[in-house]
Amino acid sequence: MFPKNNPTNTQAWLLLKRHYDEEMQRTHLRKLFAADAERFKKFSTSFNNILFDYSKNIINNKTLQLLFQLAEECQVKEGIQAMFNGEKINETENRSVLHVALRNFSDMPYNCDGQNVMPEVEKVRAHMKAFTAKVHSGEWKGYSGKNIKFIVNIGIGGSDLGPVMVTEALKPYWKEGIQPYFVSNVDGTHIAETLKKVTPEETLFLIASKTFTTQETMTNAHTARDWFLKTAVDDAHVAKHFVALSTNEKEVVSFGIAPENMFVFWDWVGGRYSLWSAIGLSIALTIGYENFEELLKGAYLVDEHFRTEKFATNIPVIMALIGAWYTNFFGAQSEAILPYDQYMHRFAAYFQQGNMESNGKSVDRNAYEVNYSTGPVIWGEAGTNGQHAFYQLIHQGTLIIPCDFIAPAISHNPIGDHHVKLLSNFFAQTEALMNGKTEEEVTAELVKAGKTKEEIKKLLKFKTFKGNKPTNSFLITQITPGTLGSLIAMYEHKIFVQGILWNIFSFDQWGVELGKQLASKILPELENQDEVKDHDSSTNGLINYFKQIRKA
Ligand code: F6P
Repeated sequence: MFPKNNPTNTQAWLLLKRHYDEEMQRTHLRKLFAADAERFKKFSTSFNNILFDYSKNIINNKTLQLLFQLAEECQVKEGIQAMFNGEKINETENRSVLHVALRNFSDMPYNCDGQNVMPEVEKVRAHMKAFTAKVHSGEWKGYSGKNIKFIVNIGIGGSDLGPVMVTEALKPYWKEGIQPYFVSNVDGTHIAETLKKVTPEETLFLIASKTFTTQETMTNAHTARDWFLKTAVDDAHVAKHFVALSTNEKEVVSFGIAPENMFVFWDWVGGRYSLWSAIGLSIALTIGYENFEELLKGAYLVDEHFRTEKFATNIPVIMALIGAWYTNFFGAQSEAILPYDQYMHRFAAYFQQGNMESNGKSVDRNAYEVNYSTGPVIWGEAGTNGQHAFYQLIHQGTLIIPCDFIAPAISHNPIGDHHVKLLSNFFAQTEALMNGKTEEEVTAELVKAGKTKEEIKKLLKFKTFKGNKPTNSFLITQITPGTLGSLIAMYEHKIFVQGILWNIFSFDQWGVELGKQLASKILPELENQDEVKDHDSSTNGLINYFKQIRKA
């Protein structure tokens, strides 16, 4: 049975609170490092070419022991087992959560409703592999006999962000002759600008939608089909240029896509966990099926680690516990993800959905309002760009913002000294955030620069950095499909563990429904000439102003 414990009722929570009040809120990372020469060795570990250094966190042995105790008392182990066993842990939608099955390469069965899902998973993998090979070899041709050169994935949220992030991160692996594009926004600009870059004869549209009812995706899909038919004319040609990635065969067929051109997945795959499923077809077409499978295998290694490893050495569990430590005891409200790799520039955006749609909840699994903080705001930007934009606030602002620094040791573009310069910034930032700069250090620096006593007095406070800003570092040998798969899975399981700790359902997203409902009520009001009166005065005012401008 999936656990449902209020974390604040555990003994560990009380002990952690006391530990924070009496010891950790007054300590400094400088002190923690000075007291223990072995700190890095103790608080770092590596897995599948990913070094995870969590030593620059405001923790000591006792903190970790208490956090592990919290995980025990919140029954994280039982939660992990429930997920892997296919229990319907997504209770509000009565669904299992089995994205781990999509990257399973062992003989272990994964059951949903008492049925092993692996034969179906393998069938879809084979379908994707065969289709990808046909497109790449040129056996799959467009209606006029030309090869496919352009892939346009039309999807939004989980049916877009994962494929965008992964294809960008793995650009060095792109197949020659294939150019992918992604259209997500219902803003006509997105599809209009994309269609300028492709030709109807050489484009394959992937309509990616779990439900196949999402307004943005269906609107873009219809626009793409109209655009295509303007040139191709005959409806029969749609079959060569439109495929569907979905769970909803009925809607796919009614759109006009034949079932054989549909790549299926299932309701036990959450949208934001779906890049491993048929939704990954754009990835396979862009980097090749073999590389797509390497991505899955990288994630599979982490799944096994997560499922079997004890808490003390379990990377996703440690990531989750440290995050909760700041959220629930230090009052941190956001976390930054900072990849020092230009190709990874969408990684933070990807986990913005992964994290915030999963753990942005305030009602617990017993339907009670929570009395503690849950999911933080996730944001970030590729280094070093962020350094020249928002790092000032992380260094000297009033908020505590735990940061994840991620970098490859080996660049795919080893040009001159770019990469050592990039990494020198990575190391410098985590060191600066941790140590800060004391008044003594600032004074010595200013004296050396020849400043007068007066000048030093004036500048001292401004140039002082308190430090003690926590960071995790992920140093990856190289960003490959395998290491990227592992890294993504680590973050996914971190979110899952935090959902258990916070006693919330991480796999539904009712919070996005209200806006959708209201938008569909407002849409017909925008399409007539009548004055709108049924909303509050602000909404009426905005709508009527918009209609006036459109009329003019
Ligand atoms: O934003 C809500 C949401 O349901 C996401 O969870 C999902 O990833 C996205 O919409 C797209 O949904 P679909 O794949 O069904 O089009």
